[in-house]
Amino acid sequence: MTDLHGRIISYLRISLTENCNLRCIYCKPDQCTTNNSDSMTKEEIVSIIRVMAESGIKKVRFTGGEPLLRKDITEIISEVSKIKGIDDIALTTNGILLEAKAKELKDAGLMRVNVSLDTLKEERYRELTGGDLKNVLKGIAAARKEGLYPIKLNTVLINNFNKDEIEDFVNITVENDMDVRFIELMPMGVSAGWIEEEYLSSEEVLKRCPKLEMIEKDYTASPSLLYKLPEAKGRVGIINPISNKFCDSCNRVRLTSSGKLKLCLHSNEEIDLLGALRKGKNISDLLKKYILEKPETHFLKEKKYIDKDMYKIGG
Ligand code: 5AD
Ligand code: SF4
Repeated sequence: MTDLHGRIISYLRISLTENCNLRCIYCKPDQCTTNNSDSMTKEEIVSIIRVMAESGIKKVRFTGGEPLLRKDITEIISEVSKIKGIDDIALTTNGILLEAKAKELKDAGLMRVNVSLDTLKEERYRELTGGDLKNVLKGIAAARKEGLYPIKLNTVLINNFNKDEIEDFVNITVENDMDVRFIELMPMGVSAGWIEEEYLSSEEVLKRCPKLEMIEKDYTASPSLLYKLPEAKGRVGIINPISNKFCDSCNRVRLTSSGKLKLCLHSNEEIDLLGALRKGKNISDLLKKYILEKPETHFLKEKKYIDKDMYKIGG
């Protein structure tokens, strides 16, 4: 699929649930997001991905909410791994349930995981998320043991919260063949309210760790600029949606857990793909038509923010 701006769309991020077992303060799912009645079923997810694969999607990432809360995640991955054309299956998780699931996920065909981790301090982790850091660390260890590779840690930079841990995160890469990726806080939903106070430019990473050397990107459409400490086993990524816009090379679309297609993370526009599927429409044709409308860029600098939090979209 190619959009009107010549961008080839090959990457689908699909949210499996809005539910989450954490309550990160910049995302904050409602206390009880159990209303998943309008979520896509396993069969619907697989059907949509099959159509997408026929249209040129090659890479699928499962997100949420917390995707490991989906009881049928292993089956979904197993089905998707059989779809012709899908050559990369990844997962973004908060890691809490990863220890228990890593083996079955790997066996089902999952290739790699990104784990969200914003602090290495137990008390801070509890304060930020309401969860137990030990579970995440055990989850990461299990993922490594099972050979899910590469493992990427996603760290959202929050000014008054984890600025003082940047060096600690970077130092993880010295002995571990893992990517640590710093993500600038994006104004959306609840986080739009305190972006002025808590936004921290990723330049802070380079300021604090001047020994980082830039290396070549994994692939052109990757939003992550890559760095390395001399002699380090792992790499450091910087994802900078505001100051270093990567819309020009954007190759992705998203699907929310209720089957709404989002052509851009930062647009309120949603297309009811699941509704069309349930009505028996030809979603392959719809997809080709809608893909053309993918917005050229976001308007974050112009302070146009979306209303939804990440858990409602899929990180
Ligand atoms: N800005 C940046 N990252 C965010 N995430 C959730 N909300 C935001 C935001 N406002 C991140 C989570 C997780 C991923 C799914 O998205 O920390 O790493
Ligand atoms: Fe859950 Fe992710 Fe939101 Fe944190 S950022 S509350 S882990 S969905």
